[in-house]
Amino acid sequence: MKISVIGAGYVGLTTSACLAELGHQVFCSENDPQKLAKLQNGDLPFFEPYLEELFRKSRAKGRLQLGSTEDAIDWGQCIFICVGTPPLDNGDADLSAIERVARTIAKRATGYRLVIEKSTVPVQTANQLCRHLSLHKNNQLEYDVASNPEFLREGSAIENFFHPDRIVVGAESPRAQQLMQEIYQPVLDAKFTCPVHKNCQPRTNVPFLVTDTNSSELIKHASNSFLAMKISFINAVADLCEAAGADVSKVAEGIGLDPRIGASFLQPGIGFGGFCFPKDLQAFVRIAEKFGCDFSVFKEVEKINHNRIAQFKEKLKKELWVLRGKKVAVWGLAFKPNTDDIRFAPALVLIRQLLAEGAIVQAYDPQAMDNTRNELPQVTYCNDPYQAAEGAEVILVLTEWDEFRHLDWSRLATLVERPLVLDGRNALKSKDVAAHGFQYVGIGGVSAMPTQASSLVGA
Ligand code: UGA
Repeated sequence: MKISVIGAGYVGLTTSACLAELGHQVFCSENDPQKLAKLQNGDLPFFEPYLEELFRKSRAKGRLQLGSTEDAIDWGQCIFICVGTPPLDNGDADLSAIERVARTIAKRATGYRLVIEKSTVPVQTANQLCRHLSLHKNNQLEYDVASNPEFLREGSAIENFFHPDRIVVGAESPRAQQLMQEIYQPVLDAKFTCPVHKNCQPRTNVPFLVTDTNSSELIKHASNSFLAMKISFINAVADLCEAAGADVSKVAEGIGLDPRIGASFLQPGIGFGGFCFPKDLQAFVRIAEKFGCDFSVFKEVEKINHNRIAQFKEKLKKELWVLRGKKVAVWGLAFKPNTDDIRFAPALVLIRQLLAEGAIVQAYDPQAMDNTRNELPQVTYCNDPYQAAEGAEVILVLTEWDEFRHLDWSRLATLVERPLVLDGRNALKSKDVAAHGFQYVGIGGVSAMPTQASSLVGA
């Protein structure tokens, strides 16, 4: 099938490469000439596991073309809109890029087009798209608008595409439904070679949920807001655990065993970040307000998340007393592991505050240091976690990269000034760390005092 994807950002590029891998003929457009030139050279603008291999393969096989919006519109009968919908100052999603694409499609396309919104948009955007296509269309354009929210998680987006929990489609005509089904048929029939796992057996009963466009749009915002609520919930419980002498990891395990609650997204920490949860939550609250619904519950979710950093910093100050002039090792900058994305990353919010108080920050992240350098030039960027730990009064774990779970703690004990770990993600095994002479302070009452004297003087 010939498919166009407008926008070579995170969603657009991932979607393009995956659709091409399914066997479709994909044309992906990018209107930033520099970015387009880089892509044409094979340079991807961000890191996502398996994406580069997939992108290269599809390009080599001629299944993925790159070019202008106009060429993309001419190419496919199905056009995915994957342009950005960043937050405006008031929390609303900025839909100007979507509007511009709709107008260009209306003026340029002839014949039938299925216009598919993949970008995260507020409810009733499909209705607006229909209105604008009709307002600006040339005489020959026939169209449907469908909504197809993406549920890809950064760091596991390719895996999520090939093994989805569900595919949601908002489509209000049989033709639109049929085309959407055709696009995803290889996934539904498990007829693809999984680029992530060797010899995996993909499921053949992936739910393909067809709804009206309003419901589909709401499913996306409601899903992200619910997940954000789960995280703030466990963070609130973590605070109580800490105050009352309980262990949040046990509490999370106990409640997560109830299938109505589920174990995932109950990992407490310094809060959620990234370009999805914070902005989608804000947008969802704004949407509800516009419709006169009380969504104060989600305002609390935001507030709890916002306070995570201040609370963590207080914990740090309780240990170090004064920050000025002290070396602080930061492990992890990205908003989550397996990505180089630092947008709304809790680590960066915290680092800014530490620098403002005069701390000397030595940071290491396996992928996100290049992105962070421009934003925080005052930080010393290190080659590995060991270098970051040199002379440090504390090691802060701010992103739960797997690499941090496999370190030589005996060596670390010889490098630090004080053997203290503040784990903002409960990523490490407290006992293992304590066994090497470190004091371990996690989130929600997960802590351990050194069980072996450190080799350090004064420790
Ligand atoms: C999220 C959703 O999970 C995807 O389903 C959705 O498609 C995507 O947003 C989107 O709207 O595009 P993503 O932002 O990539 O995906 O990352 P998540 O894995 O959901 O994590 C978000 C944040 O929550 C991270 O900062 C992570 O550290 C934090 N988190 C996650 C926790 O603090 N605790 C948890 O238990 C889980």
